Amino acid sequence: MENQLCIVLDFGGQYNQLIARRVRECGVYCEIKRFDTPLEEIKALHPAGIIFTGGPNSVYDAASPHIAKEYFDLGIPTLGICYGCQLMAYTLGGTVESCEKSEYGKIEVTHQDGSLLFDGIPAESTVWMSHTDYVSKLPEGFRVTATSADCPCAAFEDPARKLYAVQFHPEVTHSVFGKELLHNFLYHVCGFTGDWVMDDFIEKTVAKLRAQIGDKKVVLGLSGGVDSSVAAALLSRAVGKQLTCVFVDQGLMRKDEGNFVEETFTELFDMNFVRVNCQAHFLEKLKGVYDPEQKRHIIGKEFYNVFWNKIRETGSDGFFAQGTIYPDRIESGKGDEAGKGSTAVIKTHHNMVEMPEDIHFAGTIEPLAELFKDEVRAVGEKLGIPHELVWRQPFPGPGLGVRIIGEITAEKIRILQEADAVFRDEIQKSGLERELKQFFAVLPDVHTVGVMGDHRTYDHLIAIRAITTDDFMTADWARIPYDVLARVSNRLCNEVQHVNRVVYDITSKPPGTVEWE
Ligand code: XMP
Repeated sequence: MENQLCIVLDFGGQYNQLIARRVRECGVYCEIKRFDTPLEEIKALHPAGIIFTGGPNSVYDAASPHIAKEYFDLGIPTLGICYGCQLMAYTLGGTVESCEKSEYGKIEVTHQDGSLLFDGIPAESTVWMSHTDYVSKLPEGFRVTATSADCPCAAFEDPARKLYAVQFHPEVTHSVFGKELLHNFLYHVCGFTGDWVMDDFIEKTVAKLRAQIGDKKVVLGLSGGVDSSVAAALLSRAVGKQLTCVFVDQGLMRKDEGNFVEETFTELFDMNFVRVNCQAHFLEKLKGVYDPEQKRHIIGKEFYNVFWNKIRETGSDGFFAQGTIYPDRIESGKGDEAGKGSTAVIKTHHNMVEMPEDIHFAGTIEPLAELFKDEVRAVGEKLGIPHELVWRQPFPGPGLGVRIIGEITAEKIRILQEADAVFRDEIQKSGLERELKQFFAVLPDVHTVGVMGDHRTYDHLIAIRAITTDDFMTADWARIPYDVLARVSNRLCNEVQHVNRVVYDITSKPPGTVEWE
């Protein structure tokens, strides 16, 4: 049976994915749709509830995203957030004006008794506001349910038509009871039953995959990252040895990581596992290359050259699978094309790659295409993928290639792998691992003078980088305790041959980036 559906109607707000994630966290399946999705299409999807998102516009601008008045005749329970709240009021005959004093940040609101939306929420609570327009007059049939010092209609509703609106952002964690409010809307107003649970997802997906694949074969490119690993585990559960995972090891992964991936998938999962070791090939292609973007380009291109050549050997008489997840589809503008299985576009981190014309699969399978990252991890854990793989920190597609500044050589890869392993070990021992979102070593291609016993040395400098961040768009350097830094520095100089100096990167982003290249 299909899950009940909530639609998040996208009016261009910056928190839209967050709204969808929060809805999923409430155990309700939801999809993000463009604001101009035809009403017929919306009706055909039978959503049990719809949430209008915020957006940067003003409802009075002709160019702003609008919605047909007829939408409100569909009888679908609707919650308008911020711009969505103003749009609901404006479309139904209320008045929206520019604020005399715009509200931004944490604001206290007071709500009246008797609203389903505020059920169980204290009469006064803190919410997150960010708006320059406000609703000054409600449409007929509505009543105000919350106010703030500067906003007379911080929340309003017409319970008879199941239309609800909040000027603030319940999806942001600064709104203290935001999650409860969304829960109230979904369960008390719309009547969702909470049928979105990961155990069911696995069961349903396995059944669907079996029906779709039949007795055909499936090939999956496994990178060792979270998404492709979980896709591999799910496909393995569905079709076992009909699945072949191709793991291209370009020799630019962290120390022992290639072996760990191979052991995990050959020992814990039923599948054919093909590892292609091609460090020498990559080093050849990267000889004399210093420019970071050129390196990225070569590593990306060669990765696919090797991969497609392996496919030509193993054959393409079946399905092609990949670990595309929901945010990938939203970010590439394909969010609305759920399950349509385009064969031409292949997931990579920063760009999309075309499948060569001579390779013809029967179709593409993206078993995780509906899931957010947290959900992918939950599925991975349930399928028995080791914790360190499921909770792996982000690792750039070009691997250590963008952490070795300047030309890449086998010796430099060895030094960086060793140094990175020491740093990781000390972070793990210090118990800081969970606090840090990313931590790694960099080889800046700088030699400095040092002294070892009675000898002068002229050897490599290692930089270490550790960051805290919510979203990787901005980041701060982590305040690692001095004694941990001291141990790392000692060990690096003592244990890693050809390292005689260590520096700690104390640059935040911006102005720096997380990676050095
Ligand atoms: P920056 O360096 O842009 O990094 O601040 C932000 C996040 O993206 C990761 N990153 C990459 N990931 N291919 C990837 O798959 C890349 O070329 C790449 N460059 C950066 C980086 O590790 C961080 O998590």
